Amino acid sequence: MTQSANLVQRFLEDEGASVSFAQKLAQALKEVLGCEKENGIVVYLNGDLGAGKSFLSRALIQSYDSRLKVKSPTYTLVESYEVNLGLWPAQVHHFDLYRLCDPEELEFLAIRDLFQGRYIALVEWPEKGQPVLPAADIIIDLQYQEAGRNLNLRAYTVIGQEVVEHLE
Ligand SMILES: Nc1ncnc2c1ncn2[C@@H]1O[C@H](COP(=O)(O)OP(=O)(O)OP(=O)(O)O)[C@@H](O)[C@H]1O
Ligand SMILES: [Mg+2]
Repeated sequence: MTQSANLVQRFLEDEGASVSFAQKLAQALKEVLGCEKENGIVVYLNGDLGAGKSFLSRALIQSYDSRLKVKSPTYTLVESYEVNLGLWPAQVHHFDLYRLCDPEELEFLAIRDLFQGRYIALVEWPEKGQPVLPAADIIIDLQYQEAGRNLNLRAYTVIGQEVVEHLE
């Protein structure tokens, strides 16, 4: 485990380790979103096919509500979940842009409306959404390492930095 001002590194030896990291990240995101009505955090998830981006996203969403059925956004491009993060309603938007041919298609998803209010956006294959997709506060990289995964999480904004500070 390594941690510096804006970087968190973890070896996630199995799926259970990924679930516990997702739970800690969910808690940190909740604390940083705080009580403000308008506050959002954009998290890009990078990594090869099967690196565990969807697995981490599902565990994160379900740590807010274990009853939520988390669907794959592969064909719909985005699935949104209403979650209870304190005073105001909040949304988690889970994107998978792998099949996006043209970033302009994001306009049809009324993407601007999704990046308003209280939200967490988790974005798989964010490079496919450039330059329409909003910039990342946090970028997570997942890489195969033996039977597990290496995770690097880096903050790029002040709010992203706060999340790193809340990850103990
Ligand atoms: N830390 C881990 N150690 C071992 N296996 C893991 C770990 N985290 C996730 N996995 C496994 O990796 C598999 C693939 O994960 P997932 O579908 O999340 O990949 P992905 O990065 O979303 O791929 P894609 O780019 O195709 O969407 C899952 O079956 C999951 O069980
Ligand atoms: Mg996926």
